[in-house]
Amino acid sequence: MQYAATDVAPHERYKILAAFIVPRPIAWVTTIGPTGVVNAAPFSFFNVFAEDPPLIMFAINKRPDGRLKDTWLNIQRTSEFVVNITDEPLALKMHNSSGDFPPNVGEPDYLGLKLAPSVDIKPPRLADAPWSMECKTWQILNVKDDRQLVIGEGTRFHIRDELWDPKAMRVYTEKYHPVGRMFVDRYCRTDDRMEFPAAPVVKAAAAE
Ligand SMILES: Cc1cc2nc3c(=O)[nH]c(=O)nc-3n(C[C@H](O)[C@H](O)[C@H](O)COP(=O)(O)O)c2cc1C
Repeated sequence: MQYAATDVAPHERYKILAAFIVPRPIAWVTTIGPTGVVNAAPFSFFNVFAEDPPLIMFAINKRPDGRLKDTWLNIQRTSEFVVNITDEPLALKMHNSSGDFPPNVGEPDYLGLKLAPSVDIKPPRLADAPWSMECKTWQILNVKDDRQLVIGEGTRFHIRDELWDPKAMRVYTEKYHPVGRMFVDRYCRTDDRMEFPAAPVVKAAAAE
């Protein structure tokens, strides 16, 4: 079976893309609104793309009725945000924070999520997240005026102590349980892992 991208409507393309490109990591983004309300929302069109500088990107679209999401407006105004990662104990609250909240109601406050101050920027991080990165906007790419690709440069990493061996600079994988997004309201656990020996290094045949 195959489709030309131009033969399917955007919402059908979304299904074809979002059903197969899984599991996706989730950026749980905290920002500050104009009156100081702390906002949190999850975004799974998200990944990391570089370490020098540390760059992540995520995509925010408009709501179906055309309204701009709080995260969009807050980043546009302040150029500051925190990307928090969700693990299993936080997953349901992450999911619930995707509800439609008015701008003056902060999801962390409403859902009882603890906040911790950031160091380099104003928006706080989620205190119980296993990993958070303070970010400043590096660049924003506008996609057809209804989506923004926000590229953020990380200025500081926060890691829950028990998860990290600072000497070896390694995560204790058996203690780290991030969740991934499958389709719509489905998620996956990540603790059934596998490991392979090093991939082969194949030398080019000598020229005759
Ligand atoms: C797991 C998950 C991933 C999501 N990913 C995205 C995404 O990549 N882009 C987007 O615009 N909305 C995404 N959403 C929907 C937003 O989280 C939702 O619209 C939210 O209300 C936006 O909140 P805000 O207005 O506080 O920014 C996702 C929702 C969930 C539950």
